[in-house]
Amino acid sequence: MRISVIGAGYVGLITGVCLAKLGNEVTLIEIDAQKVKALNDRVPPIHEEGLAELMGQVDMDVSSDHQKSRHSEVIFICAGTPSNEDGTVFLGHITAISDQISKVLRSRGDYCVVVVKSTVPPDTTEGIVVPILEKSGKKCGKDFGVCMSPEFLREGKAIYDFMNPARLIVGECDKRSGDTFLRLYESFDAPILRTTLRTAEMIKLASNAFLATKISFMNEIGNICKRLHIDVYDVAEGMGLDDRIGKKFLNAGIGFGGSCLPKDIRMLKTTAREVGYQPRFLDEVTNLNDQQAIRLVRLAKKHINLEGATIGLLGLAFKPGTDDVRDSRAIAVVKALLGEQALVKAYDPLAVENFRKMFPNLDYVSKEEVLNCEAILILTEWEEFNELDYRGKIVIDGRRVARARDARIYEGICW
Ligand code: UDX
Repeated sequence: MRISVIGAGYVGLITGVCLAKLGNEVTLIEIDAQKVKALNDRVPPIHEEGLAELMGQVDMDVSSDHQKSRHSEVIFICAGTPSNEDGTVFLGHITAISDQISKVLRSRGDYCVVVVKSTVPPDTTEGIVVPILEKSGKKCGKDFGVCMSPEFLREGKAIYDFMNPARLIVGECDKRSGDTFLRLYESFDAPILRTTLRTAEMIKLASNAFLATKISFMNEIGNICKRLHIDVYDVAEGMGLDDRIGKKFLNAGIGFGGSCLPKDIRMLKTTAREVGYQPRFLDEVTNLNDQQAIRLVRLAKKHINLEGATIGLLGLAFKPGTDDVRDSRAIAVVKALLGEQALVKAYDPLAVENFRKMFPNLDYVSKEEVLNCEAILILTEWEEFNELDYRGKIVIDGRRVARARDARIYEGICW
């Protein structure tokens, strides 16, 4: 099929590249001229397993010209939806792209489907996107169709997740929209749920809020287990044998970060407040997550006077396998350590350059240098950290790295 993907962020780029790989004629539309050039030179702007290779294989047009979507049968909106300072969501990119599509629709005589893939608060597609598209003079459900299909891919596994989705959620304004969109996924073997636009939007927010909840729940259980000298990882194993609970997302530690979980739970809480509901449970999921990072620093204080001490950090990325530091727990840990007047030295195999943008004055060193600090805090479970020699060291572990137990003094955040 002929498709356009608007917005070459994480979701847009992966969607475009994967749909091109599946044999579709793809145009990726992006306003950032530098990004367009890099993508046309096939330089991936993000670190993602298999992406560079796939970009080299596919024939995909990258441009900043919205008119290029005028022959597309499906047009994806993949704009970022960052949080504003006050926790509300910034929809400016979504509205700007919708405006551009509306201009293209005005001159089109044929039917196409616009698909919102960005994570948005319920009612955004119906209440904001559709009215802007209809400014073209064309009617939703007659001249063009609209779907909302959230993306569930994980960073580091994005291509695999796109190609092997656990489920396809298709919010549709009418059957024809969903039928047209689903032609793209004919070769996929995933359960499909067809639903309303608003329900699809909510499924995405509720899914990520649930994953965040699982983590905060296990962190709370871990904090209790630690006091009782019970291993929370054994508890998780026992719980996970019940398939109503499931084995995944039960790893206790310093909590969740990244571009989705923290932002999506914020979006859901704001939405709840806007409709007059106090989301006390979801508030607590976030509070617990914020406290875990501080708890790690408090544990370090039990063993070492932080003022003037050299503290080494292993890991800055929000999880292994990525250079992404958005909402990484390392941010809160660094702030707390600097607040205690500690001297911070940090190592990460991929994320230093991104972390440096936020903390330009931190001392970024090799992992060997981190090992020579007065105390070591483990913030990301990179595999290579399991190959270090921790003997004789003081280690406070936020991520359960087995080898770190060889340390002279070893303490885990929940164990
Ligand atoms: C997440 C969702 O998994 C994905 O479906 C959605 O589309 C985007 O958000 P991602 O942000 O890539 O994906 O990371 P994920 O692997 O889910 O991990 C999120 C955070 O939770 C990380 O900081 C990770 O360290 C933490 N985590 C995860 C735990 O602390 N314990 C766990 O058991 C699992």
